[in-house]
Amino acid sequence: MRVRRAELSDLDDLVALEEATFDSDRMSRAQYRRHLDSGSARVLVASANHRLFLGTAVVFFRKGSRVARLYSLASRPEARGKGVGSALLAAVEQAARRHGCNEMRLEVRTDNASAIRLYERLGYQRFARIDGYYEDGAAAWRYARPLDAATR
Ligand SMILES: CC(C)(COP(=O)(O)OP(=O)(O)OC[C@H]1O[C@@H](n2cnc3c(N)ncnc32)[C@H](O)[C@@H]1OP(=O)(O)O)[C@@H](O)C(=O)NCCC(=O)NCCS
Repeated sequence: MRVRRAELSDLDDLVALEEATFDSDRMSRAQYRRHLDSGSARVLVASANHRLFLGTAVVFFRKGSRVARLYSLASRPEARGKGVGSALLAAVEQAARRHGCNEMRLEVRTDNASAIRLYERLGYQRFARIDGYYEDGAAAWRYARPLDAATR
């Protein structure tokens, strides 16, 4: 498995995974397209044998802020439980460090047990709850993790 920056040729896979994975708050093809070229976003893709698409992570940066925001993380259903999500998370953290960030934050649905387990295993700490955060009214936990300066 390898993690790399997403390219235009990944758009079909990105949109198909988004539609298969999320029922609300989906990112459109146009949004993905914009993020590919944006200095304030980074779209990463995990793939096997160069082409086989396994999953994606999207991170946002803000000018003047050292806090990066994990906006999306998803692996293909048939590829789950094999380290794809963990590898994508490690790669977005590394991209954020290189961008000069010292903290990663994210929101996750309070009923998303597998994602919560992954984040907590990788050192994320819950610090707030936002009721009605998602389009369907579901609540979110907010998590954060410092990005170690030593490996920045
Ligand atoms: C959450 C999500 C991204 C996790 O992706 P994943 O590819 O399954 O993640 P990993 O394989 O790295 O980790 C999942 C589990 O498999 C285990 N695992 C990792 N590599 C493994 C391996 N080689 N063999 C066996 N188990 C392994 C991990 O320890 C982890 O265990 P945990 O559930 O106790 O944390 C995935 O479930 C997903 O796409 N869900 C739908 C979208 C979503 O909810 N995204 C998060 C929104 S905030």
